Amino acid sequence: MSVLVNVNGRISDGASAAISVFDHGFLYGEGVYETMRTYNGEPFLFDRHMQRLRASAGMILLDVPDSDNDFLQRCLETMAAAGLGNKRSEGFDEAYVRILHTRGIGDLSYDPAATPIPSVVIIVKPLPLTPESQFQHGVKVCMVDVIRNHPQSVNPLIKSNNLLNNALCMQQALRKGGVEGVFRNYRGELSECSQSNLFIVTHGVVRTPPLDAGLLAGITRGFVFELGAAAGVTVEEAVLNDSDLFGADEAFFTSTTKELMPIVQVDDRTIGNGKPGPVTRNLLGDYRRRANEMTTTVVR
Ligand SMILES: Cc1ncc(COP(=O)(O)O)c(C=O)c1O
Repeated sequence: MSVLVNVNGRISDGASAAISVFDHGFLYGEGVYETMRTYNGEPFLFDRHMQRLRASAGMILLDVPDSDNDFLQRCLETMAAAGLGNKRSEGFDEAYVRILHTRGIGDLSYDPAATPIPSVVIIVKPLPLTPESQFQHGVKVCMVDVIRNHPQSVNPLIKSNNLLNNALCMQQALRKGGVEGVFRNYRGELSECSQSNLFIVTHGVVRTPPLDAGLLAGITRGFVFELGAAAGVTVEEAVLNDSDLFGADEAFFTSTTKELMPIVQVDDRTIGNGKPGPVTRNLLGDYRRRANEMTTTVVR
């Protein structure tokens, strides 16, 4: 199983994939991206990811001329070339699929006119497996003192290639022994994590910071609202502070690759009874069941 990269339609192995140093994605972080994964060999919630990619691009005034179907075909071609996403193959692996859409190649200038043609890169590799023990026992996360980007600087709603704020958050969390870092916003409220959204559960009610706390509208986050509605569990947005998290019965973070990950420790504080709680476990079970149901069994 290999890592393959599709650069503007040309597929090559990970080591030889190349893009110009004059691409403004490289020079300025000017671009947007999506991370997807497959279930049953099929990119999950592809349409929602495309919708968000277009919304992100719109917020930096970046044109996305290709259709959703163009993107899908490129992803499927690259997956097929990597031996992923094909249900007929032995020992079939799920795929990690990352689409990057940058401003493109041009002179050293912030003027978008310098870069008339965007670059599209698709990275496909076997989905890195998260140990099941983490889902069973939960994980530690850490509060960080890096503040989430102010919405009027680089708005966290933009899933942008400019990820320094996120990288600094994760670096600090890793140094403190956590698997994820929890950001506060400029007002001191909880916002999200370096690469996931944050949820807490108190007296059976699930709460997550509102979008205007400055965070990415996670696809998994959105799906949790739907799962809650279907299961009769209240899931709502609420301004949250440190004490809400420390005093929660349960907590979890969500992302495409980590699904719903139970949090049992924040820095040196135990959350709830130190074990993944029933609401989190049920929602994770529902998530996996729905993801499985929603991916067809069409053989490509
Ligand atoms: C900052 C941030 N928040 C939240 C998420 C989770 O988003 P999704 O559920 O769409 O994967 C991500 C995913 O990469 C992220 O980078």
